[in-house]
Amino acid sequence: SIIVPSVQELTNETIINVPPRYVRTDQDPPSVTADTWLPSVPLIDLQKLVDGVHADELERLHSACREWGFFQVINHGVSSSLLEKLKFEIENFFKIPYEEKKKLWQVADNHEGFGQLFVVSEEQKLDWETLESYSAEMKKLAMTILGHMAKALRMDGEEMRDLFSDGVQSMRMNYYPPCPQPDKVIGFSPHSDADALTILLQLDDIQGLQIRNQGRWVPVNPLPNAFVVNIGDIMEIVSNGIYRSIEHRALVNSSKERLSIATFYSSRLDSELGPAPSLIGPSNPAIFRRMPLEEYFKEFFARRLNGKAYLDFMR
Ligand code: SIN
Ligand code: FE2
Repeated sequence: SIIVPSVQELTNETIINVPPRYVRTDQDPPSVTADTWLPSVPLIDLQKLVDGVHADELERLHSACREWGFFQVINHGVSSSLLEKLKFEIENFFKIPYEEKKKLWQVADNHEGFGQLFVVSEEQKLDWETLESYSAEMKKLAMTILGHMAKALRMDGEEMRDLFSDGVQSMRMNYYPPCPQPDKVIGFSPHSDADALTILLQLDDIQGLQIRNQGRWVPVNPLPNAFVVNIGDIMEIVSNGIYRSIEHRALVNSSKERLSIATFYSSRLDSELGPAPSLIGPSNPAIFRRMPLEEYFKEFFARRLNGKAYLDFMR
């Protein structure tokens, strides 16, 4: 992969026009949908799911995963003081001088480290404890959500647990600096997530995330302390296409920086990827092939760099 300079550094100097390399004529301008009425991403109350007495909440989860591939989750039980602490530390993390960050800069073909687009994980400069407890809370939350998804899909719960209880977890913190010409750039290009389930925490009350819904871009309104959860490609495959991994992107704005932290879940690294056996049968033939998860990741990254349509290689 190619390493490019830090956008954050770029914005430390006052610039009036964005450098040509960032100007996107290949994208729908951010303002296209601004004046039209748009639906909201579904809201799921986790406590209602856990209580198990609200059958319709499970139904709502199911249709959110089928029709939107995205939902926001409230009453998730993760303490707001932990989230506040995390937010404080991530903000400070991005304030570390460039010279310091350079020491942790990602190297080619490695997704770890500080840099553009790919993974920033476990940075020493963060208070380790906060990130550790956040990571543990995220795992708990992911397993709870996956359990309810299995129920909603009428999938064997044991199959789901076997795939994910020792699954791969990674994190990325995103920093989007303010931009003098927000209509000309994209903060994060349209993509679908390669993992199974992503849990995103938006750290500010600032809109930026947009998702593809019925051919248009729909913004996800940040709700205080809510998580944005989305289906990734692996879950689309495991659910045999019942749940959908949806394209999304992030925009920037002219006056405020925006921060987010994404936690990614994949199945066990030594597992085989394919539709869950309990979901396929004579009337539901598998629409994806099976392959070792490691091979899938290799194929995925090779194809993504070639700009090919996601997931087609699994059909
Ligand atoms: C992402 O897709 O991981 C970026 C989402 C965001 O920062 O809102
Ligand atoms: Fe994403």
